[in-house]
Amino acid sequence: MGKPKRGGLKLKEESLRVGLLLKIIGVAVTVFVAVHFLYAVEYSYLALVYSFFLLYFLTKILRESNDGDFDKAINVVIFSFLFTFLLFLVHKTILQRLVESHRENFIIFSFPYAFASLVLSYIFDPLPPIILTVLVSLGVLGITGNVIASLYALMLGFGAIYGVLHYGKMRRGTIYRTAFVILYPASLLFLVFSHLQDISLTTFLDDLATATVNVLELSVIASFLIPIIEYLFRIVSPLRLIELSNTNQDIFKKMALEAPGTFHHSLMVATLAERAADAIGGNSLLARAGALYHDIGKLKMPQYFIENQVNLPNPHENKSPSLSAMIIINHVKEGVEMGKEMGLPREIIDFIAQHHGTTLVKYFYAKAKEMGIEADESTFRYPGPKPQTKETAIVMLCDSSEAAVKSLKEPNEESIRATVNSIFESLLEDGQFDEAPITMRELRIVKEEIIKSLTAIHHKRVEYPKEEKNGSKSPEENKNRQKTSP
Ligand SMILES: [Fe+2]
Ligand SMILES: [Fe+2]
Repeated sequence: MGKPKRGGLKLKEESLRVGLLLKIIGVAVTVFVAVHFLYAVEYSYLALVYSFFLLYFLTKILRESNDGDFDKAINVVIFSFLFTFLLFLVHKTILQRLVESHRENFIIFSFPYAFASLVLSYIFDPLPPIILTVLVSLGVLGITGNVIASLYALMLGFGAIYGVLHYGKMRRGTIYRTAFVILYPASLLFLVFSHLQDISLTTFLDDLATATVNVLELSVIASFLIPIIEYLFRIVSPLRLIELSNTNQDIFKKMALEAPGTFHHSLMVATLAERAADAIGGNSLLARAGALYHDIGKLKMPQYFIENQVNLPNPHENKSPSLSAMIIINHVKEGVEMGKEMGLPREIIDFIAQHHGTTLVKYFYAKAKEMGIEADESTFRYPGPKPQTKETAIVMLCDSSEAAVKSLKEPNEESIRATVNSIFESLLEDGQFDEAPITMRELRIVKEEIIKSLTAIHHKRVEYPKEEKNGSKSPEENKNRQKTSP
């Protein structure tokens, strides 16, 4: 079972890159021709209504063909392009009523062409915002026929991309910093230089007003557009991931109270996964957020999971192995349902669904065999799917490693290395990483990073052997712990 494919008819087959690029060109040409014609004949309202319907229907179609990162990025570019022109027409129609008709330049240059480039830089790597910036600049040329305005849009777009790269994607303040520190002076300078022959106080004040309207509009539109794009295209931006990773949320407070062992385990896995993802250039924020939520399903029956059984009787004792396995396996299904109820993004729910892949609940399977019960292996396996992304594969390895190392009697570098190595080999042999786009080299880097982090975390305990005498479990218990957790 791969990522669920959505919608489509013929659009589904269009996921080839060439098809997608043709889609952009097609949309761009349609918009140029239609809006240019309507703009030229001064039918602003008609152009507005036309753009609105075009945007509405295209959004519906684009939402349906939303598979794969590239496809998604292109769809967002098309949407942003149309949205920019819809807003341009709104801006023009409103300002035409407010200012005198000869102030055409004010109307054209005060429009914040860069807002979508700014938003896209927040969400994607630089390529999609660069494509959009070029398209918008060509669009301005096509619609207004004004070369200076087209260059202005191009410069502001690149300024916005630079601003986000410079100030960082992690802060919402980046929008305002980019708008006021980079785009405001850039816009003002451009306007002043565009009519050097006529430098007077009046033209300067005019330029100042134009640049001010531009950045103010830009700040407002960009802040509203990020959540709209996230919702429409099911994208999780770095900002959303940071919000999701906030452990002050109710779900984590509940977990800390009702399943403290699971809460601690999730925090540990999140730290490990974040570092490991960083080491291979993966999405460390996504890995961290996904790891925090991966075991939320355990909240339905926390006492059945070993990490929450401190000083409590083990409820598995009077259960049949198959029933116990079913309860353990069920935390994945319960977690997915809880995630959907909480409105978690699909990318986060994927971690809940995939973190055990199709692994076997070995302990209860072996117990059933020991008891002479005829056990069907498939009923002791998690339903899957196997990890489908680098980040979910990383969390799978961190999850199993963390739980196993926690139960080690003497966690030192050697024993940690041996434990993580054996978990890695057994997951690999079981084919759990087969469907994830991660290379063997990357997996080995991830494994080494986990060993490094776990060794650092358990370092103190090694120095105080006395603590272990009282606190540690028997080797037999350790063995069990490894098989029932994580
Ligand atoms: Fe789990
Ligand atoms: Fe876990």
